Amino acid sequence: MNVHESEKVAGILENMGYECCPDDSSADIVVFNTCCIRDTAEKRALGNIGVIKSEKRKNPDMIIVVFGCMPVQPGVADMIKERYPYVDIVLGTRNLNILEDEIKKVIEKRATKRKNDKKYRCFNVEDPEEFIALSDGLAVTRTSYPNAWVNIIYGCNNFCSYCIVPYVRGREISRDMNVILDEVKKCVAEGYKEITLLGQNVNSYGNDLHIDGVNFASLLREIDKIEGKFRVRFMTSHPKDLSEEVVEVMASSKKICSNIHLPIQSGSSKVLRDMNRRYDRDHYYSLIAMLRSKMPNIGITTDIMVGFPTETEEDFEDTMDMVRKVRYSNAFTFIYSPRKGTPAAKMEQIPYDIKKRRIGELIKLQNTITKELSKEYLGGVYEVLVEDIAPKYENMVCGRTESGRLVTFDGTKEDIGKFVNVKITETRSASLFGHKI
Ligand code: 5AD
Ligand code: SF4
Repeated sequence: MNVHESEKVAGILENMGYECCPDDSSADIVVFNTCCIRDTAEKRALGNIGVIKSEKRKNPDMIIVVFGCMPVQPGVADMIKERYPYVDIVLGTRNLNILEDEIKKVIEKRATKRKNDKKYRCFNVEDPEEFIALSDGLAVTRTSYPNAWVNIIYGCNNFCSYCIVPYVRGREISRDMNVILDEVKKCVAEGYKEITLLGQNVNSYGNDLHIDGVNFASLLREIDKIEGKFRVRFMTSHPKDLSEEVVEVMASSKKICSNIHLPIQSGSSKVLRDMNRRYDRDHYYSLIAMLRSKMPNIGITTDIMVGFPTETEEDFEDTMDMVRKVRYSNAFTFIYSPRKGTPAAKMEQIPYDIKKRRIGELIKLQNTITKELSKEYLGGVYEVLVEDIAPKYENMVCGRTESGRLVTFDGTKEDIGKFVNVKITETRSASLFGHKI
């Protein structure tokens, strides 16, 4: 979601005639795209905004923009206003439509500024009434060929008790199905080979539209009918909303990958209740069983958090137990980070050293499983969509299997965007290596 939003920022700026430059010091405009999901992300954003001050001193014409979900939190836009006086424009995730006009205003007001005039600055983190109408159709500079990101639903209504997202990204708003289909068709016509549908909770797609027959399953069905050879992925699915209908569409479709990211967060039913996740471990496991019964080779990844305030040693063991049972191909693991304004931040917190030990144990377990699962690929032939040249190896490229596993094999820049059959000959923990056949 963040990467795609940066692509939109780039699209707007390129449309205005700007181009990407190699370093901060030569930039006319610097846009910080911020995230506040965890404290580390927020600290990093503020640190980087602090560092730009010295560049701005050398180049006083530089325009500095802070964008994204961080300034939408109560008090943060005001804090930036006070502590970072060199920041010109602050916009929330739903205010990108005014970026172009605000840049023009800053330039114009600087040019016409008289001695005692106050510097022009823009702070807008409001949720506009007509958000979809204002944002659909803004330019995009895509940066992840052969993949193209496509938003299907914005915002979140779920209010998991640890999560800041519903407070900073607003309520769920689905895009019109025809607008989405047109965007997918356009990407395919332009040569993109993988479409990743984006939403905080893709399974809620259509709920707010109240149109008969419009939901995530029907959207997937329509996308699958679009002509051309391309893959479809989506993220993120919420276990409380993943329907059997969606799983059936995935299983019977030609283009939707046998791959799902299904965040469990915790393996303890008690912690899941305290997190307001609205499913328990049995329900979650029944989803895994259903997915695997309909798609035996599906790649399943997840998000897991340790150190939620009510997580006891026993609860953590429940998480470890689920990880052993499900055997994820990969897991994104996080230490719970209290977010101001969320219910869990007000609870009594767990000491950091306990959280640290738990995440260490969890990562170790997942690494062992990933390594074991990698071995199952040995000797097999898989269709791989080539994404890039391999960063660490000469004359090698990397790409993904339909199940989402990264494979490195012999190839050149010209292979990027091609589907290639690859025989897996070697595995190293999470990485698979092979040869073109
Ligand atoms: N602390 C740690 N991790 C969090 N996530 C969301 N909120 C928090 C938080 N306060 C994680 C969840 C989510 C992923 C995108 O980030 O696991 O699925
Ligand atoms: Fe956050 Fe929960 Fe919404 Fe995901 S579903 S964005 S974790 S509130």
